[in-house]
This record gives sequence, structure tokens and C-alpha cells, in this order.
Amino acid sequence: MIKRPRRLRKAEILRKMVRETRIDQASLIYPMFVRDGEGIREEIPSMTGQYRYSVDRMYEELEKLSDAGVGAVMLFGIPDYKDEKGSQAYAEDGVIQRALWEAKKRFPDLYYITDVCLCEYTSHGHCGMLKGCEVDNDSTLELLAKTALSHVQAGADMVAPSDMMDGRVGKIRTVLDAEGYEDIPIMSYAVKYASGFYAPFRDAAKSAPAFGDRKSYQMDYHNSREGIKEILLDEEEGVDIVMVKPALAYLDMIAKAKEATNLPVAAYSVSGEYAMIKAAAEKGWILEDQIVCETAVAAFRAGAQSYLTYYAKELAGYIKEGR
Ligand code: PBG
Ligand code: ZN
Repeated sequence: MIKRPRRLRKAEILRKMVRETRIDQASLIYPMFVRDGEGIREEIPSMTGQYRYSVDRMYEELEKLSDAGVGAVMLFGIPDYKDEKGSQAYAEDGVIQRALWEAKKRFPDLYYITDVCLCEYTSHGHCGMLKGCEVDNDSTLELLAKTALSHVQAGADMVAPSDMMDGRVGKIRTVLDAEGYEDIPIMSYAVKYASGFYAPFRDAAKSAPAFGDRKSYQMDYHNSREGIKEILLDEEEGVDIVMVKPALAYLDMIAKAKEATNLPVAAYSVSGEYAMIKAAAEKGWILEDQIVCETAVAAFRAGAQSYLTYYAKELAGYIKEGR
């Protein structure tokens, strides 16, 4: 035998020398839940180690993130008051708007991305306006754009629409540009599947739909070409970064997205992925740090440039250790 692949696996230094995928703290985005109220830091039952913070207590977490070397957060708002049209999503003193003013004062160096959707704000828990029992596309666009604009006015550095309505990127782009925010990037949840992996999130954000499901707007997981269609549409509408979500069960889509577009691709390791790892680790059935590194590297190996994960802080530490 003259060809022996094992030669390059003999020593750590050599293995690292020929590594194909290297990950960096700068790629990480931490999703964070901010709620109305004061003095609140409450653990999310289905996501051990993740919390809902009131605005006055979110600093504790921002400080830890910044110390760990995580530079970006994705904010989700949980209002006390919900109504049919999700008015707290675009209220001037809404929870996200207040969170942005305050957080940007105290931690101006962090990068603030906001999730733009209505489901956390509507009384019915759907991502858009209802017309009868249907989620109405075009009237929803107005509210999404209003939400995005109010986030940007409150200081958001980037907006991330997650609703899956048709034409939302174009609508948001037009409204931001008209107000002089042409330099604010949009990261769309372009390839977003109707997925069972969001269950802990809906528990965290109290955003489960009151009836039905999200299959009339989020994608069917049997499809992959449809995801490319979504990416190309968002690209035409002026999107800057496209996201694939969930990550772990959709690595094929990350790889295909990378082929289909020259835009950066982000992958979102969602709440259910976090919960599965956490729960198995709590039982002592897997080693948490190993699985966190392995699943993260898999997303980058598949082609992601950025990675949203509830493990961002821990992962930043593992990266520092050269894992
Ligand atoms: C809002 C939104 C959801 C997630 C991100 N933005 C929930 C959903 O679509 O039901 C899921 C994130 C996660 O599970 O971690 N539309
Ligand atoms: Zn939504």
C-alpha cells in the first residue's frame, strides 16, 4: 500500500494542519428572547439554560456574550399584550424597540439583528393578518415592513424577516430605502421549513398558532428545489443574506443554497436542535460539547458562513480551545 489516509491522522498538529473547515466566533449569532416586564430572568422549561429576559435584565446576558467573543445577537420580542394585528410588533415603545434603545446604549459594540414576524405579537399566533381562517399575504406585508422600519428606527443593525410571506423582502427593502436606510442589510429566512423543530421556541415565545399550523406559508420538508426558488426570489427582491432553517436536518439545503447563490448563507440551529442535545446530555447519553462542535462544524462544512445557535457562548469557548 502506498496510499494510506491514516498518515495524516496520526497527530493532532497534522490533523489541524489539513483541516478543511475552520470556524470562527465572528460567524456566530445568538438568538435571545426579550419580554415585557421588569426584573425578569425566567428559564424556558423546554430549553434548559435559555431564558426570557426583561429589558432591564438583558445586560447580564449581553455582557457574558460579549466576554465570550460572540459579537451578534438576534432578538425576539415577547409582549404582554397581543392583538389581531400584532400591534406591539411595530409600537414605538414595543419590547424590541425598547430593548434596542437600551442595549445599544450599554453595549454599542454588539451587532443587533431583529427577527421580523408577527406570530409573537398576534393573539392568534399566526405570522400574518388573518382573513377568515387564512393568513392573508398582502395585508401582512404592510405590517411586516412597518415592523422592520420601527426596529431600524430604534437602532437595529439588520432585520431578519421570518414570516415566509411572498414579497416581504421587496416590501421591506422599499420601505427602508424610502426612509433613508438603504445601508441596513436584510437577512431573510429564505429556506424555512414548516418544522417540528420549532416547538420549544413556540413555548419560549408563547407563539404557537391558536388553530391550524404554518404549512400554508412555511415550506414542505419534502421539497428542496422549492427552497432554491425562494432564494432566487429573495435575491431579486434585494436580500443580502439568505438563511436555511432548521440546520441539522437540512444540511443538503445549506449545500444547495451555497451552489444556487453568491450571497452569504446563514444556518439556524433551532430550538428543537438545542433541546434534543440538552435533553440527551442531561440524561448522560451523549457528551454535550462534542455534539455541539460536531453539529456546528457540519453546518459550516455544508457551506454556511454564519450560524445562529443557542449554544453560541459555549461554542465560542470551544472555538477558542481550537476544537
Ligand atoms: C417566528 C420564528 C420562529 C422561529 C424563528 N422565528 C417560530 C416559527 O416560525 O414558528 C423558530 C426558531 C427556533 O425554533 O429556534 N416566525
Ligand atoms: Zn412568525
